[in-house]
Amino acid sequence: MKNIKLILIFFITLSLTVIAQKKSFKERADSVLALMTLEEKVGQLVQYSGDWATGAETSRPKEGSDELIRKGKVGSFLNITGVSKIKKLQKIAVEESRLKIPLIFGLDVIHGYEATFPIPLAEASTWNPALVEKSARMQAIEASAAGINWTFNPMVDIAHNPRWGRIMEGSGEDPYLGSVMAAARVRGYQGNDLSANNTILACVKHYAAYGGAEGGRDYNTVDMSERNFRDFYLPPYKAAIEAGAGSLMACFNEIGGVPASSSQFLMTHILRNEWKTDAFVVSDWNSIGELIPHGVAKDLKQAAELGIKATVDMDMESNAYYYHLVDLVKEGKVDIKFVDDAVRRVLIAKFKLGLFDDPYKYCDEEREKKTIMSKEIIKATKEVALESIVLLKNEKNLLPLSKKLKSIAVVGQLAKSKDDPLGGWSQKGDSNSVVSILEGIEKKVGKEIKINYAVGAKFKGNDKSGFKEAIKVAKKSDVIIAVVGEGRYMNGEAASRATLDIPGVQEDLLKELKKTGKPIVVVLMNGRPLTIPWVQENVNSILEIWSPGISGGDAVADIIFGDYNPSGKLPVTFPRYVGQVPIYYNHKNTGRPHNPNDHYTSYYMDLENTPLYPFGFGLSYTTFEYSDIKLDKKEIKMNETLKVSVEVKNSGEREGSEVVQLYIRDLVGSVTRPVKELKDFVKINLKPGETKKVDFIITPDKLKFHDINMNYVVEPGDFKVFVGTNSIDVKEASFKVIE
Ligand code: GLC
Repeated sequence: MKNIKLILIFFITLSLTVIAQKKSFKERADSVLALMTLEEKVGQLVQYSGDWATGAETSRPKEGSDELIRKGKVGSFLNITGVSKIKKLQKIAVEESRLKIPLIFGLDVIHGYEATFPIPLAEASTWNPALVEKSARMQAIEASAAGINWTFNPMVDIAHNPRWGRIMEGSGEDPYLGSVMAAARVRGYQGNDLSANNTILACVKHYAAYGGAEGGRDYNTVDMSERNFRDFYLPPYKAAIEAGAGSLMACFNEIGGVPASSSQFLMTHILRNEWKTDAFVVSDWNSIGELIPHGVAKDLKQAAELGIKATVDMDMESNAYYYHLVDLVKEGKVDIKFVDDAVRRVLIAKFKLGLFDDPYKYCDEEREKKTIMSKEIIKATKEVALESIVLLKNEKNLLPLSKKLKSIAVVGQLAKSKDDPLGGWSQKGDSNSVVSILEGIEKKVGKEIKINYAVGAKFKGNDKSGFKEAIKVAKKSDVIIAVVGEGRYMNGEAASRATLDIPGVQEDLLKELKKTGKPIVVVLMNGRPLTIPWVQENVNSILEIWSPGISGGDAVADIIFGDYNPSGKLPVTFPRYVGQVPIYYNHKNTGRPHNPNDHYTSYYMDLENTPLYPFGFGLSYTTFEYSDIKLDKKEIKMNETLKVSVEVKNSGEREGSEVVQLYIRDLVGSVTRPVKELKDFVKINLKPGETKKVDFIITPDKLKFHDINMNYVVEPGDFKVFVGTNSIDVKEASFKVIE
């Protein structure tokens, strides 16, 4: 009996000790906060860039980084990479500063660290969240091995305007697809255990609605109704936070007159009061300082006051917090609570990452050597590139090309480029590791087929002197593969374009090549939808490869020669002409929807009023047939679900994957509703002749929207449901929602 008592006492003591040690992250953060001086607290809210700038230079303090760290005046760096550099700075922080608080190192790991993946818009074209999660996981494994703890990704900004260069960085125009991809990337970066040394903190950006810039001009004014904001722009940020993202980045733009970096509506009301997240907010580069040119702050001190009161926790590069926050608190203009709350959120993130337990956990030079550009990660870059490529046209099944052809002309500066496939946001990508399109083709068929290359045209400028050589090689070849599009810096940040045409004289070259009468395959390398009506009309096949990353050449060669059947689908609408922009599938009907038989309706009189390629579009080397939709009920109550079933058959000769898409339409609401809304999708693989039944479940949540009173509700009434291969080619059925 006595022994049992002793054993009981032992286990109770043990569990109490464990409980005592298992303090929450908040408790641990508060225990550090209690020791900090005001200056040290402000130091945690300051972030500076290291080896290169990703924004305009700002007026930095005179002390160098080492001194700032020693004095506890900086809490984070960005744009510093490599274990040796990061370890050196971390060592100063945890051995020479007073409180030894570890630094957090951030980097734009947007589509890869050094092993560069296809751009995010390409990844969205896979419509394969598991693969996108795997890509983010690989990126985190590589970046963390180089000492990085925090990526400024996923970028989740919805974009309806391809003139905006940063459309390449997100997941396109749709809130549902954008939400699925946002959550997948957060899972990939953060994994199941943020304290592991191969997981990194995610950062949802650019909060919020940065993609709504007027005219698609970067950094421009954003102004929209709260309903539009909440129903079409906000969901992907929320999905990322619900997936556990540990931070967000405040965007440059204003929304409705209030710049995001001073917006108490965005930061306090939505983030803290509605979503109740402890994720911390970092400003974008100098976005707090830019409250001055925005015209809401008269000087940097007022900008600092506005930023901290909006709960923008960390100041990237504007120096506002560095120079003014201590005084603002001492002068009673800023309550210390704002500073304490901000510091607590930053410290919680550092605790979650395990940086207090082991500040050097990301600093293993052996791991760095064997992880960077590992075979496994490079293999993944090709896997993603293959699934991201979209077949836009394939007249008379010209593709896949036979490996028995005698000769092929490969034309275009982008065909040979080892730099442009890296895309606009590759920080460490090395062009020497890129397989160019030409190299990919040569590797695959160069022994059997004569490959004739000519530049033909560059992606910039009006020089046509290369046309003659290109036409010469075309005439002596069986097929022409022309790689055209945008150079890597013709899209991305601060790369807005007023036209969407293929730049330079590349299309003129295609017109000359067309005159040779040879079949033409156009390979588009770009970061945004381009207006290519002539190309669509006049060439045989078109592949959209986006900026395909380091394995782009291998992926394109596999597809062109049939070793992979393309399955990508567009995450964004392609207009025929830039004048149609903004053009997107989930538009409202208006009171006068376009009717070709009625003059007084909404259309452009000088062009075909449909998109060149609709949202969700993508062809295959095989064909798929859809049965009619079957519903398990004709009506559901507000809290019931509806099962939607179709059968999809591979009616062609080749195995292939199909993205089966489900859309709904709420026919009558207390406010106007879109003509279609994507609410689910699934990617299935079918052998020739194989049929699969696909079931979708429509839950009430998929029918909700912000009603006339801004309540997020399902309203009773008539609905349509659509299932198909893109947002236009669909089968439809109807159902009712009843009270
Ligand atoms: C840039 C970008 C942002 C990036 C940050 C740090 O200006 O807007 O996306 O994460 O600065 O590089």
